[in-house]
Amino acid sequence: MSFARRNGALCANEVPLAAIAAAAGTPTYVYSWPDMARCYRRTARALGRLDHRICYAVKANANLAVLARFAGLGAGWDVVSGGELERVLRAGGDPSRAVFSGVGKSTADIDFALKCGVDCLNVESAGELRRIEARAALLGRRARIAIRVNPDVDAGTHPHIATGGKESKFGVAPAEAAALYREAHQAEHLEIVGIACHIGSQIQAPEPYLAALDALLALADSLAGDDIRLRHVDIGGGFGVRYQPGEKALDLRMLGERVAAAFATRPGPPPTLLVEPGRSLVAAAGVLLTKVEYVKPSAGPRQPGFAVVDAAMNDLLRPVLYQAWHRVRMVEPAGKRRRWHVVGPVCESADYLARSRLLALAEGSLLAIDDAGAYGFTQSSNYNGRPRAAEVLVDRGAFAVVRRRETAADLWRLERTV
Ligand code: LLP
Repeated sequence: MSFARRNGALCANEVPLAAIAAAAGTPTYVYSWPDMARCYRRTARALGRLDHRICYAVKANANLAVLARFAGLGAGWDVVSGGELERVLRAGGDPSRAVFSGVGKSTADIDFALKCGVDCLNVESAGELRRIEARAALLGRRARIAIRVNPDVDAGTHPHIATGGKESKFGVAPAEAAALYREAHQAEHLEIVGIACHIGSQIQAPEPYLAALDALLALADSLAGDDIRLRHVDIGGGFGVRYQPGEKALDLRMLGERVAAAFATRPGPPPTLLVEPGRSLVAAAGVLLTKVEYVKPSAGPRQPGFAVVDAAMNDLLRPVLYQAWHRVRMVEPAGKRRRWHVVGPVCESADYLARSRLLALAEGSLLAIDDAGAYGFTQSSNYNGRPRAAEVLVDRGAFAVVRRRETAADLWRLERTV
């Protein structure tokens, strides 16, 4: 892990976080590229026995510098909007290695994806299938598609990030998917290339994936009789990471072995396996660096005090939205440890980053909120007139600001008075 202490001071790849704060200010997201690269390579190794493609889920961390570096490793992409696809192109990513997911693709999204030549549109409804056929006909192209199946498995994760249950808005039930495949098979401007699912996020055991894979392969078998061949099987992302003690990261090696075993029992050449990890490639490679503005005493003798920091729920929404737990560390511990609620300046009582943590802090102390590399900056907003944080990338003992801090003028740039 790159965020370790040297002579007591927390560093990112040997660069003291205090030096980054001095140069870039706070709050700032700090990413370690060596950690991201390591996670990517570990995933590639775990799936090494399979013909596979890692389609990085751009929504987790979409900074151009991060995307450009993943492009350099030969990554594929999972995008859910024209905006994400534009970012991939801008960063030098290869659209022919991209899958386009999402339950509400607009006509503009579909046209753009077809013109860019994305590898596959993951279709999530009958209406979408028909719209893609119509747009492809109009543009004189053939659209490569997969149907996103909702296999109705319980991923054992937070309800906000579970997507594989039959009551969820995502994907289509296996029986409907079979009918859509048959329809697509007849369509002049559609080319069936695969089958897809994504059952949720922060999944810690391989079993839900294997249950979903069984459902996908059973459907694929039933289609073979209609001469519908699927070149790839996309099991989505959602690979769990360890945010707190007691949590377990998904065992990728085990997942790879079990998928390979499932493929091996089938006749014919195995399909290409696609995976769409976001969090597991970037979460642990990022911290949110923030400064304590004020300390406020607690309401009672046994209550934690409030450490009011300069980052808030608009910067990191996960604790508020999912009751997510992120470890908080002192960049340079100061004095005696006490219990603190770490709260932001936003005018909402929900604006907590962490509750009741033992920290040795004082006014002016720097804190690192760990595992913030995924769904941190990408879910940030300007609520309360707050310019969004800067982003810094660290590599080989050096750092660079890869997104400057927003200014107030950035926030009203698109507005006018009338
Ligand atoms: N593929 C699809 C179709 C997805 O919808 C997602 C995430 C992924 C891949 C990547 O999932 P990952 O490997 O990152 O778990 N904001 C939430 C997570 C929402 C995930 C949405 N979809 C959080 O902060 O926990």
